[in-house]
Amino acid sequence: MKILLIGSTGTIGKEVYNHLKNTHEVFGAHRNSNTYPVDITNKESITSIFEKLPKLDAVINAAGTASWKHLQELTEEDHYIGIQSKLMGQVNLIHIAKDYLNDQGSITLTTGILAEHYEPKASALSLVNGAIHSFVHSASQELERGIRLNTVAPGAIAGDFPKDQKFAGYFPVEISDVVKVYEEAITGNKTGQVFKKYE
Ligand SMILES: NC(=O)c1ccc[n+]([C@@H]2O[C@H](COP(=O)([O-])OP(=O)(O)OC[C@H]3O[C@@H](n4cnc5c(N)ncnc54)[C@H](OP(=O)(O)O)[C@@H]3O)[C@@H](O)[C@H]2O)c1
Repeated sequence: MKILLIGSTGTIGKEVYNHLKNTHEVFGAHRNSNTYPVDITNKESITSIFEKLPKLDAVINAAGTASWKHLQELTEEDHYIGIQSKLMGQVNLIHIAKDYLNDQGSITLTTGILAEHYEPKASALSLVNGAIHSFVHSASQELERGIRLNTVAPGAIAGDFPKDQKFAGYFPVEISDVVKVYEEAITGNKTGQVFKKYE
């Protein structure tokens, strides 16, 4: 499979990249890449990477941010950071990828546990994660040419967060387990799913 992986140097992305490259042709992209630079907050940038990499079978996004602030401190502008990056970055990726991917291709996004569990100062992330879950459920039904759309919703990644300390009510998850979920999302046949990885 030819796969574009956006966010390929991040905590999640680099492990997904290292695993998938053993069995697939993976193109790692991120803003500061010399080879495949892309910024998901910029539609032209997203389009240009698909122009550069034709005939992809899958795109995985593991990039996107939002503000971390207590509700009392969150401003409208703070919300727009997450809306522009993690939310509209991924929504625009869907809109562009659907016209470039091969038939039966797949789009796999990244959300997280905060869509449905509380963690202090994380409500701006909860907002965008929840919105993406809703969009994936419905947008996946209208994709054509057999293109599938899913999101992976991991808990906090062990290592990034202390292993023995609960985050949003759950212990952090091993990155190796999360990587397998991304692999299942691209090699399986499901669509419209939120693949949760926290227990
Ligand atoms: N880490 C966790 O515990 C965890 C848990 C659950 C969910 N998540 C979610 O998973 C996603 C990735 O998290 P992470 O911790 O792996 O992030 P990270 O370590 O900060 O890495 C982010 C990656 O994305 C790239 N990137 C950042 N902004 C970008 C943009 N606008 N366009 C293109 N690439 C961009 C970065 O490279 P450049 O700086 O070069 O662009 C880097 O490769 C986030 O949405 C996060 O909320 C993370």
